[in-house]
Amino acid sequence: MSEIRITPSILNADLANLDSEIAKISNVADLLHLDIMDNKFVPNQTWNFAEAEAIIKASPLPVDAHLMISDPDIQAPKYAEVGCKSVTVHYEATENLKQTLQSIRRAGARAAVGIKPKTDFSVLLEYRDLIDMILIMTVEPGFGGQKFMADMMHKVSTSRDFIGDADIWLQVDGGISAETIEIAREAGADTFVAGSAVFKAADPAAMVLKLKELATK
Ligand code: DX5
Ligand code: ZN
Repeated sequence: MSEIRITPSILNADLANLDSEIAKISNVADLLHLDIMDNKFVPNQTWNFAEAEAIIKASPLPVDAHLMISDPDIQAPKYAEVGCKSVTVHYEATENLKQTLQSIRRAGARAAVGIKPKTDFSVLLEYRDLIDMILIMTVEPGFGGQKFMADMMHKVSTSRDFIGDADIWLQVDGGISAETIEIAREAGADTFVAGSAVFKAADPAAMVLKLKELATK
């Protein structure tokens, strides 16, 4: 089975002290999950490109950018160009998914596509050769701290079968914690976003290690 990755989301970290928040998990996490929201695709707003670029360039961890924005076809390649390891666009927001995935790869990042809870897995079938990571949302995108949707696990299992032996990571995002990570792992996920579970923990690094252990055993 594939390697396990824990990708803490800083959405609900202490944003006034972001450097020290990131430092808490930088020795134990695999990537830093950066949630970009524009108040159009989702009813919430986070960093604009210039602000995100500063975070990406300062990050001691490789960055996994999750674009919850209405114009990903234009923005996604820019995130790849400034050094993100992985850039995720939402299927629901793209107008030309094929071209956008190709542009992300051309700029040197892993090209990833996410689907919201109401979007069927089958929309991804024709993109297999262009995808480096599938993101199955386990909450409605927009906010941290929501309840994990266990009824998304059929999409995770279907994605795992679809991936076969291809080098495609399978990520889940939303409500992942010590209570839910094993369910997602058993369904086939290998890359786990955890926001509040990590940054609301008394010891964020210990929580990352705990999540990794639970997903590995
Ligand atoms: C929500 C974001 C998530 C969020 C997860 O739309 O995509 O990455 O930070 O937060 P938790 O882990 O608290 O559900
Ligand atoms: Zn996210």
